[in-house]
Amino acid sequence: MRTKAQVPEENTRPLNPPHPVAQPGRHRKLMTTPNTRSPKTKKIIITVLIVVVILAILAVAAFFIKQLIDSKYYFCSKSVKFIPLEKACDGKEDCSGAEDESACVTQFGTNSTFPLRLISTRNVLQVFNSVENKWKSVCAESFTQQHAETACQKLGYSLNPSFSTVQVGLLSSNLKMYFCMVGSSKPQSFQSTVTDRKVCDTGTVVTLTCSADCGKSRSQDRIVGGQGAIIENWPWQISLQNSGQHTCGGSLVSPNWVVTAAHCFNGDGKKTLVRWNVVSGITYMGSSGASSVDKIIVNKKFKSGQNDYDIAMIRLQYPITFGETRRPVCLPPQDLGLKSEDKLVVTGWGHTTEKGNLSPRLQKAQIALIDRAKCQSPTVYGSSVTPRMICAGSLEGGVDACQGDSGGPLVYISDRWMLVGVVSWGVGCARQGRPGVYTNMDEMLDWVHSVMQEFP
Ligand code: ARG
Repeated sequence: MRTKAQVPEENTRPLNPPHPVAQPGRHRKLMTTPNTRSPKTKKIIITVLIVVVILAILAVAAFFIKQLIDSKYYFCSKSVKFIPLEKACDGKEDCSGAEDESACVTQFGTNSTFPLRLISTRNVLQVFNSVENKWKSVCAESFTQQHAETACQKLGYSLNPSFSTVQVGLLSSNLKMYFCMVGSSKPQSFQSTVTDRKVCDTGTVVTLTCSADCGKSRSQDRIVGGQGAIIENWPWQISLQNSGQHTCGGSLVSPNWVVTAAHCFNGDGKKTLVRWNVVSGITYMGSSGASSVDKIIVNKKFKSGQNDYDIAMIRLQYPITFGETRRPVCLPPQDLGLKSEDKLVVTGWGHTTEKGNLSPRLQKAQIALIDRAKCQSPTVYGSSVTPRMICAGSLEGGVDACQGDSGGPLVYISDRWMLVGVVSWGVGCARQGRPGVYTNMDEMLDWVHSVMQEFP
């Protein structure tokens, strides 16, 4: 073996006449590692191996360096400069052209009542009369498909409205007191064409569904406890990722709007749009197929360090195409009227134990709505629970949302799944007497509709 290897080496000698001193070394080395391959092939293999190893090391190093830099710095691409993360979106210009301040979280608040709403389980359409300060149900007389489209557009939807009518006699008394009729003039002026009525001639009022495909999932999955789930059953669930790291959950409510929690945007680097992505259609945590974020709107009344008004909305750069794994959840009608002990489901990739880790697989848990008075009792959360919050879970503990579930959906099903809460806070996770607290969607519908209308 040794000699075989030596022969060709001898032959190479005349090819390297200027370096005779190098020869003994090379010669010795070859003698100690006998090989049947020609040294030329061997050299190539070794070189390729070395290059591959070096490239792999470089790639791993680059990945960690990028992670490290990403966790501390913001990169100004125009001026090719790094600035500390906390200086991005701090209201002061640090990059040339104020690049670090140009795409930040927006705060948005409304004082006025959103002039349209769908109310009760029947989705009765109502218009707000600001002079009388009263909500009025819309008479079915002369209401057209065109009106339905306008109303839904105002509520932030663009697709597939359908309307129906309901006998006034079947409604609860607060819905049958006042009526109005919409005229047939231009759809844009819907609001100004309503006329008051003492009675509805047809005896019927309008009920409206704006999103035909919301809240339908592949199966009507209602299994108890924290368990592995599949996205097809909860297709509105998204993973909200900051620099590629899962940070919060969220819910698709239309092709380009996601509802999440305001507190997800607290902290360094959390106010900059470029760092955020929305990943939809996955059961197992990952980052592929992420959607870029075009706008993040946080409720103006949310104060960091507090939990009140914990809601935000994300507008996606490109609308999502719906299918088996991506579908919106329905926004509930106003005054859905949930009662304590009603069954709800919360989903997410959050920690599976209080001090644990994120779950690689989407989890679901069936929990119950907890009576407000009970949750506000001094032995539970007292006055920390505001009207903008609802409590759900179990006072005995054992089942709950946890870190990383924030912003995710709390849903209720009647004929479709509806978003009734947003994972917000809790003391620990699944502790006895410390249930999960969720943003109360019923109180936030006005804000949600205003956002979709204001930033179409
Ligand atoms: N704030 C947490 C988050 O950022 C969610 C807390 C929910 N906690 C609970 N016990 N339900 O992910």
